[in-house]
Amino acid sequence: MDRLEFLRRMGCGAGLMVATRGTGQSTELARAAWPVAYRADEPEAFWHAVRDQYAIYPPLIYLNSGGLGPSPRPVLDILELTARQLQHRIETGHFFFEQARGIVAEFFGASIEEICFARNATEGNSIIAAGLGLRAGDEVILETHAHPGGSLPWLNQARQAGVVVRAFTPDANSAAGNLERIAALVGPRTRVVQVSHVTAPTGIVMPVREIATLCRAKSIWFHIDGAQSAGMIPFKLQEIGCDSYAASGHKWLGGPRESGLLFIRQDQIDRVAPLHLGAYSSGDFDLSGHLTFTQGVRRHEYGTRNAATVVALAEATRFQSQIGRERLAVRNASLISRLVDGLRDLPRVTILSPEAAEQRSAMLTFRIDGIPGANVFHRLMDAHRLRCRPVNEEKLDAVRVSFHIFNTVADCDRLIAAVRQIVQP
Ligand SMILES: Cc1ncc(COP(=O)(O)O)c(C=O)c1O
Repeated sequence: MDRLEFLRRMGCGAGLMVATRGTGQSTELARAAWPVAYRADEPEAFWHAVRDQYAIYPPLIYLNSGGLGPSPRPVLDILELTARQLQHRIETGHFFFEQARGIVAEFFGASIEEICFARNATEGNSIIAAGLGLRAGDEVILETHAHPGGSLPWLNQARQAGVVVRAFTPDANSAAGNLERIAALVGPRTRVVQVSHVTAPTGIVMPVREIATLCRAKSIWFHIDGAQSAGMIPFKLQEIGCDSYAASGHKWLGGPRESGLLFIRQDQIDRVAPLHLGAYSSGDFDLSGHLTFTQGVRRHEYGTRNAATVVALAEATRFQSQIGRERLAVRNASLISRLVDGLRDLPRVTILSPEAAEQRSAMLTFRIDGIPGANVFHRLMDAHRLRCRPVNEEKLDAVRVSFHIFNTVADCDRLIAAVRQIVQP
């Protein structure tokens, strides 16, 4: 088979060489000089070079990676190129999956057997919720701030199987407080604890290692909804110790839309019954009922898929690794601190996100007393081109800001000045 070989080239630095085996054809995609070396004495030069990798419409200051993340040029390039090449050859490109899986698995600190490509975080959450075979009266613990993509798969189990959902309000002031609130809900019928690694409404980082230890001691399945943590926080899944983890590719990772992944720990893979089965779920079956599953979590991938999306997701992880995951987290934290310093003393502004560094993420939610969150959102967008996200969950009536690698110090200062103008016209 005449395969594209560009994945072989991933991780080779600047420039994307695409070659086709056998024909010797190659295409060099021109691109702005990248990567630029990081210099501690001049960090903004590096971050501006990162910013240049994004095709964001210039007047827009995009502060909503927690909703939908833009893809950098290398990801867009490989997405388009893969789609075209596969059209030219009329191939599915499924042969790319294993190589892409290896890259993504390494990024997340998992083995290749433990990762499958999903369409989004909701799909990963749904596979776990439906696959554990819970029965009437079995209990699942969630936080009240769970996103519908995290809570509805379990509410579906409540409706279909009589599962009982028990919820705790997340503690924005103490990591230990969250652990205590979960422990207080655990009872003899608790089968699953699920938390958002980073909560969507106010960006609270949950103490997932400690929750994993608690659950392990009581033989409770621990699932993490990682929609907001994949690409935002550096971590290794095998070190966290959870049973499963689902994530979006199209938020903080900057992967293409409709990309995601599901991790299930090696020794737990067989405990999750597949929700859907089809071609690629089994290589060994017959109509008498004999059926063995494909090895690993990849059994949850079925039918014809979009390989361009999968290849581009792998490229998105490579792009972040090139920047440095720790560096990215430190940078985002510094922008959040700058924002907090700028908002702290403004009249009528209340910050709803955590104060403590261990609980704070790259998202910050604030409210302006006397002005509905939706109005604040529209004023920031219409008058200043600052695209944030209104927060209506749990009647918080606030606005959420996400800072990511393409945001600059100037973006942060523009936001502070705009909020000041709203509260001190
Ligand atoms: C915590 C959380 N879970 C799930 C989702 C849904 O993600 P997806 O659209 O990838 O299914 C979101 C989206 O914002 C989220 O914040």
